[in-house]
Amino acid sequence: MTLRLPFATALSAIVLTLAPAAQAADYPSRPITLIVPFAAGGPTDVVARTLGAELSKELGQPIVVENRTGAGGTLAAAYVANAEPDGYTYLIHHNGMATATALYSNLKFDPLKSYAYVGEVVDVPMTLLGRKNLPPANMAEFIEYARANADKINLANAGPGAVSQLCGSLLQQALGVKFTTIPYQGTGPAMAALLGEQVDVLCDQTTQTIPHIAAGNVKFYGVTTQERISKLPDAPTLEEQGLKGFEVKVWHGIYAPAGTPPAAVSRFNSALKTALKSPAFTGKMADLGAEIVSEDRQTPESLQKWVKSEIDKWTPVLKAEGMNVN
Ligand code: MLT
Repeated sequence: MTLRLPFATALSAIVLTLAPAAQAADYPSRPITLIVPFAAGGPTDVVARTLGAELSKELGQPIVVENRTGAGGTLAAAYVANAEPDGYTYLIHHNGMATATALYSNLKFDPLKSYAYVGEVVDVPMTLLGRKNLPPANMAEFIEYARANADKINLANAGPGAVSQLCGSLLQQALGVKFTTIPYQGTGPAMAALLGEQVDVLCDQTTQTIPHIAAGNVKFYGVTTQERISKLPDAPTLEEQGLKGFEVKVWHGIYAPAGTPPAAVSRFNSALKTALKSPAFTGKMADLGAEIVSEDRQTPESLQKWVKSEIDKWTPVLKAEGMNVN
């Protein structure tokens, strides 16, 4: 007995020491879930599913995309923050990761503490759209119409924390108007409402809007980036049409729960870097106006720094606007 106990202890110490290495070599050995904080069919979902297909080839396991909607993306962010940190649950999220702290006072996650960062993915411009039969034909007419009819205009968005909400709020602030806001679980359903002319205005990412702009299904008033974008070279920015300093650019990053084994994060990150170069991903993103981030931004360190800098950028703006929702 006295001889067997130390042997058992030594054996379990060896097993424990070997366990992480064995896990790293086997990882991933089963499907991985990629959580999308907004509705299926919308712009975040498009990026997630296109990327998921490439990641799956790289990792040799299915990437199961799961849409967990609600509260402007904060429910999904909380879900992943509190998920098992075993390398099998990841989150793709955008600017909402950095704006949520200013908007909500009861978050169940901390963007700076709850995650193991994986890396950034794409930057996406936004576009300002009206329903097809909204009277204004261009931005100059839209500005005039919005000021004269603000109380009759319905603005669709995906709730506080969504970039459609951020863009729509900045737009109202720039025009000095207040529209009626209609929140959806994502801009996928918000776009369906715009196409059905149940709402008047939507600010949304090119990853969803370009096909509708090309088909002439909507009124298109301009892009929200500081510079014109190569995919829509004739489309003026909102800034050049009178909204001085107006800029909203969407960035997407990937996160795992804090405590996820570094070997798993590193393996996922190397698959991400390969996926971001794949012709299927780069081709589709180019068609939809999205820009793959440079290699130095495809890292955990870069995403961590970026989230912090975006929190510092947006918190004073949102607090000054009194945009806290609870
Ligand atoms: C979505 O994927 O539905 C959008 O990213 C929501 C948003 O406007 O943030």
